[in-house]
Amino acid sequence: MARVFCAGYRRDSTFRQRLRILDWDFADATTNYLTHVLHPYPAKFIPQIPNALIQELSSVEDTVLDIFCGSGTTLVESLLLKRNAVGIDANPLACLVSRAKTTTFSRSEMDSLSALSVRAQELAASLTIPIPNLLFQHASPKLCTLVQGFSCYTGILSSNS
Ligand SMILES: C[S@@+](CC[C@H](N)C(=O)[O-])C[C@H]1O[C@@H](n2cnc3c(N)ncnc32)[C@H](O)[C@@H]1O
Repeated sequence: MARVFCAGYRRDSTFRQRLRILDWDFADATTNYLTHVLHPYPAKFIPQIPNALIQELSSVEDTVLDIFCGSGTTLVESLLLKRNAVGIDANPLACLVSRAKTTTFSRSEMDSLSALSVRAQELAASLTIPIPNLLFQHASPKLCTLVQGFSCYTGILSSNS
């Protein structure tokens, strides 16, 4: 039976000791991988913090509940660590971003997105107008990065299941 994890679930001293010896600096950590790069959000976690806590405080197939989920950093890390994830937030934008970041696509949907991204790259490269269309030229690589992020994320989640 899967358990719902909430803060304070494990209060034993071994657990507290393990949390104390973890290096919480993450100074050299890469933080913009997979779908974490999708949208900015105020006071976002770096993914390494919820990742470390989820690993210490829960087990595979547990359910992680983040009642102030914001942009869904904890939810993404929970799913990557093979936990179920539930998020709540008062801000509809937070719910939308969280839902988008935890969405996986079918193979054919991924193919369509990849084709769209390639087409956007081609169009951006072919623009020769004297005043560059900065928005489009910057949006195109970002779209490509996003599609790659979703592709990897979907791949990891499907290999988890
Ligand atoms: C610091 S942000 C969380 C950021 C999140 N950890 C992330 O990585 O994106 C705090 C969130 O709590 C939400 N919040 C504040 N008070 C709330 C309440 N009473 N009920 C639900 N959500 C609330 C805010 O809308 C905000 O999105």
